[in-house]
Amino acid sequence: MTTPPLSMYSSEIYLRGMAGERPPFPTDLSAFESYAKERMEPEPYWYAAGAAGSGATNRANLEAFDHWRIVPRMLTGATARNPQTTVLGTTIPAPVLTAPVGVQGIMHPDGELAVARASAELGIPMILSTVSSYPIEQVAEANGDGVRWFQLYWPNDEDVCASFLSRAKAAGFSALVVTLDTWLLGWRPHDLDHAYLPFLTGKGLATYFTDPVFQAGLDKAPEDDMQAAVLRWLPMFTGADHTWENLAFIRDHWDGPIVLKGVQHPDDARRAADAGMQGVVVSNHGGRQVDGAIASLDALPGVVHAVGDRLEVLFDSGVRTGSDVLKAVALGAKAALVGRPWVYGLALGGYDGVRHVLRCLLADLDLGLALSGNSSLADLGAHTLQRRR
Ligand code: FNR
Repeated sequence: MTTPPLSMYSSEIYLRGMAGERPPFPTDLSAFESYAKERMEPEPYWYAAGAAGSGATNRANLEAFDHWRIVPRMLTGATARNPQTTVLGTTIPAPVLTAPVGVQGIMHPDGELAVARASAELGIPMILSTVSSYPIEQVAEANGDGVRWFQLYWPNDEDVCASFLSRAKAAGFSALVVTLDTWLLGWRPHDLDHAYLPFLTGKGLATYFTDPVFQAGLDKAPEDDMQAAVLRWLPMFTGADHTWENLAFIRDHWDGPIVLKGVQHPDDARRAADAGMQGVVVSNHGGRQVDGAIASLDALPGVVHAVGDRLEVLFDSGVRTGSDVLKAVALGAKAALVGRPWVYGLALGGYDGVRHVLRCLLADLDLGLALSGNSSLADLGAHTLQRRR
């Protein structure tokens, strides 16, 4: 049996339209944010949409995609195309992963479980955040035989850190993504204006609260003394940066591939390779950390040039459409992590919302690949793009 093309979702929508049905949510993912704004409560909406400071980095992320234009080629016979790729040795249907996003329970009661199910169904690797609303093991169960990676917010407590890593390994998370750019939370005016930080009421802390080593440092169970549990978590999560030398600890406690997330400078990418890492995610955390920073897409070519032959280079920050994924791949990324679009899908429709957003993205990507005259990702490269003047 041949697998249906990813673009099948558009045929499905049109066919259902003949029976009077309309798609459950909009299909233009670049407009999803404004659609969600009108339907979500302000606090979770702004937690997702908000960015650091003036929002300049977030805007730059989006604008950077617009500076590159795809140059379509004709009569290339792209009928039978294949958008598959391989990340860290695993073959996936398209160069797309779901980005680690914390505290998904504020978006929808099913939170990470919905994303785990939708990602598994579509064959997309999911990256589970440390600050999850559900325990590692429960998310793994929901993800079944899907591909899952664990994202580490590196705790300032080595025993707790080692415990997280061994739990993730035991629960079938095959790669570790260490996020480097968020050892302090950025200045986020929308969250500040709402005085909204969900973690302070214990939300998004299931990884910690279900951890035996974390629990051992508490007099009472978190449900019996939430304040004490949050106060134990806070200094463990934030306030102290690590150095390149400390990576040896992570290496010693994780025997699978390690990817460093938040890399923007080619020299940092070189250091990651020298430190024995397997990959980097070129990311500025969706503009949520440093205001006025370089657009992540503008950082990508330099990193690819520096380490593309030594490391798996992944990309995120600003991916909204299938064309965005194609542009990132053409500029040298192995695959793209998608964040905010499915977060809004989750908020509006749980599992169905996430599935819809991901199917839209995959279909758009497949059609974009075909109509630009490319049969596979290997056909993409700098020659596929033109810089807008
Ligand atoms: C994030 N991101 C993130 N990254 C991470 O490593 N761990 C986390 O827990 C979170 N949490 C989180 C929450 C929310 C609401 C957002 C929007 C983002 C960053 C995420 O992985 C990714 O880098 C960005 O989402 C990319 O930017 P865009 O494409 O979503 O704008």
